[in-house]
Amino acid sequence: MSKTSAFDCSILEFSKHHSDSKGNITVVENSYSIPFDIKRVYYLYDIPGGESRGAHAHKELQQLIVAASGSFDVILDDGNIRRSFTLNRPYQGLLMVPGIWRELVNFSSGSVCLVMASMEYLESDYIRDYDEFIKFKAL
Ligand code: TYD
Repeated sequence: MSKTSAFDCSILEFSKHHSDSKGNITVVENSYSIPFDIKRVYYLYDIPGGESRGAHAHKELQQLIVAASGSFDVILDDGNIRRSFTLNRPYQGLLMVPGIWRELVNFSSGSVCLVMASMEYLESDYIRDYDEFIKFKAL
């Protein structure tokens, strides 16, 4: 999965079921809303101001990143071009293909970053060194 481009990543918009009295609900379902089956969910929260997270890439993992609360920016880098997305709507998600270096920055106070992932946690799927990532993209 080394040949992917940042242009392969996109914002998906899910339906929002609204009730004036009860608020909103958004549903993400395997095989229906996203192009992979969710094997793992994790979330980032209580992120101190000015901190960044997730400076790494994955070899095979697909992910959907949602700002469940608040806002943050996701910077994508495929070794050739960089794209930046601001996530600030709980009914939108950034669909990420493998082979993209990504960093999460500018977390607003109280924000929650919800990540739905296609695989269980596997350290060998991570590329945590940027030079190693560039070599991976050249394979
Ligand atoms: P890490 O991926 O380094 O966080 P980030 O890149 O967002 O800064 O993960 C932080 C710690 O959490 C690390 O010790 C591994 C652990 N972890 C798990 O045990 N399971 C998981 O699914 C994830 C995402 C992380």
